[in-house]
Amino acid sequence: MDKGKKFYITTPIYYVNARPHIGHAYTTLVCDAVARRKRLLGYDTYFLTGTDEHGQKIERSATAAATTPQKFADQVAAEFRRLFDRMNISYSDFIRTTEPRHKQGVQELWKRLQEKGFIYKGTYTGQYCVYDEAYVDSAKPGDPCPDCGRITETVSEENYYFKLSAMAEQLLKHYQQTPDFIRPETRRNEVIAFVKGGLRDLSISRSTFKWGIPVPGDPKHVIYVWLDALSNYATAVGFGSKDKDEQQKFERYWPADVHMIGKEIIRFHCVYWPAFLMAAELPLPKAVIAHGWLLFEESKMSKSRGNIVRAETVIDVLGNDALRYFLLREIVFGQDGSFSFDAVVQRYNSDLANDLGNLSSRTLTMINRYFGGSIPYPSPLVAKKSADDSVREQAQATIVEFSELFDAYQFSRALESAWALVGSVNKYLVEEEPWIVAEKEGEENKARLATILYTAAEVLRIVTALAHPAIPESTAKIWNQLGLGDIDKFNLAELKWGQLPLGGKLGKVEPVFPRADKSAIERMQRMEQERALEKERTGQAPQTESAAASAAAQSPATTAPAAPQPAAVTAPGASAPADSKISIDDFLKVEMRVGQVKNAERVKGADKLLRLEVDIGTEVRQVVAGIALAYEPEKLIGRKVVIVANLAPRKLRGLESNGMIVAASAGDQGLPVLASFLEDVPIGAKLK
Ligand code: MSP
Repeated sequence: MDKGKKFYITTPIYYVNARPHIGHAYTTLVCDAVARRKRLLGYDTYFLTGTDEHGQKIERSATAAATTPQKFADQVAAEFRRLFDRMNISYSDFIRTTEPRHKQGVQELWKRLQEKGFIYKGTYTGQYCVYDEAYVDSAKPGDPCPDCGRITETVSEENYYFKLSAMAEQLLKHYQQTPDFIRPETRRNEVIAFVKGGLRDLSISRSTFKWGIPVPGDPKHVIYVWLDALSNYATAVGFGSKDKDEQQKFERYWPADVHMIGKEIIRFHCVYWPAFLMAAELPLPKAVIAHGWLLFEESKMSKSRGNIVRAETVIDVLGNDALRYFLLREIVFGQDGSFSFDAVVQRYNSDLANDLGNLSSRTLTMINRYFGGSIPYPSPLVAKKSADDSVREQAQATIVEFSELFDAYQFSRALESAWALVGSVNKYLVEEEPWIVAEKEGEENKARLATILYTAAEVLRIVTALAHPAIPESTAKIWNQLGLGDIDKFNLAELKWGQLPLGGKLGKVEPVFPRADKSAIERMQRMEQERALEKERTGQAPQTESAAASAAAQSPATTAPAAPQPAAVTAPGASAPADSKISIDDFLKVEMRVGQVKNAERVKGADKLLRLEVDIGTEVRQVVAGIALAYEPEKLIGRKVVIVANLAPRKLRGLESNGMIVAASAGDQGLPVLASFLEDVPIGAKLK
């Protein structure tokens, strides 16, 4: 490995108040693909990911889950790590902001900023968004946060401030001089406009809660969670350490080459972070690259919207590479893109099972059958055709094109170009009909057969090498079947036509991409529904300030953990921390009504779900409820129930659910018990 070439790439560190979903998996696997390619190209690559564990949001989540913030963070951080291991993410380091190495580094950065005169004390009175952990200068009391829509809280406290206003010019100069610092261009323009609009000093400490890194010399204050979190990129590679090796590590890897982030956190990475680094006189990262959002059912996949899909669901049914290929090929990097189970299965079948899978299995099977499993010698003179040259020329051009596109973060187009080559060689095989040539006698035919199969195998090798960073598991298998050993030892920088060892023995040939049938989609949908219901039933999901809200929105099941009220009283998106009371106004946002079940039936293939038609006075609603284990559908007809009537509709098993039935959760198994009345109540009566 060339010690001179290093590459340091980071993911954002993930908040531990939410369980990992495909949105988190997306950023991580994009970085993984980039890191893998760099490694294959010979770069000494450092790939960092981790978890963001401090702040009021996490403290409240822990309180709501009746545990300590540390235990709470331990549990969710472990879950992120398990997922990334399961996804075969090749991270070099997983940093947690509660680790001593990080705390020490953050305090060191604070001291430097202070020494250089960038920190002073002042009083902040204004609005704060706990969810985004950000002050909202433009908001008045009661206003929602412009970023996430949640109601801001009024705070007034003595804080330490960072002189952000002093950095505006220097920042603008940097954006000007380093056009590649923020990508894509649209985000760069956004940031420049924001800075040109004027920067106010930034409050960088909090004293109203404890869960954070203490301010050096003033432990009543904890360091603002974004200053804490952003510093992870430096502390992970040794910033602030007294250890020699760690210091050398910092020298070697800092500055980061790429901070990969979602577009919603661009301001923190492109304004605050470089400003902190400039003030501390540390080198700036070379690039911040922002991707778009993964949408599901047309809105950003997020816990609070209740429209998340877990990566494990796709991985369990189709494997890691199916998920990776889909996200890299289908989503235009930088833009928002939609996720759907149908689309994943379709992509998997067409590009992997059909195109690459067929190329691989038929080429290798024929080499086994006609050449005893040894790579045949293409004859340079006998029985050549121009079609052979065209394939070779396309392969050579693809190596260049793929590399340029992939290195420019245009993953979809890079894969498209590799798959165009796969398409060409599949067509070549159909036209050259090696299976017919094989039946003909004579040396010339033998030579022709050798050339055709060599050409196909060489394309297979080239595509396998190029696609390896994107789909590492299946390409490692194909590489092995080509008899080439460990693909991770291959030097991608040297990839060119003609490197397939002539006479080389194939490995054991096995299908790599079994076709997925329609049931794959159903299985994934069922797994998601059941997991959502299970989490709710067992109460295993860490309860955050918005967890009850998201649980209510996520599923029509009626089993809030202990009492009948929690799932129902918090409207989706509302912030109702368990350690503070909600106002009557908050409560009144939830519209609960008496309804009567007109019809009830089991949902096919889902043990726990019933489809109910509920008359709420003004209309008859369809509600899908997770109560089938406790209630026979027939017995529910005519029964009066309590329904949360103003929940956003949600699809379960393809059925739209318009509302939620209120129930308690009882017994060891947390079975639902429907809320009901002793006196007779009219249909449509409002609960208040
Ligand atoms: N903790 C902060 C980041 C601190 S970095 C110093 C944070 N955490 S997060 O867990 O809310 O989000 C982390 C990243 O997850 C986002 O930037 C984004 O990359 C990714 N995503 C979360 N939901 C996503 C989608 N629905 N779609 C795509 N990416 C998403 O922000």
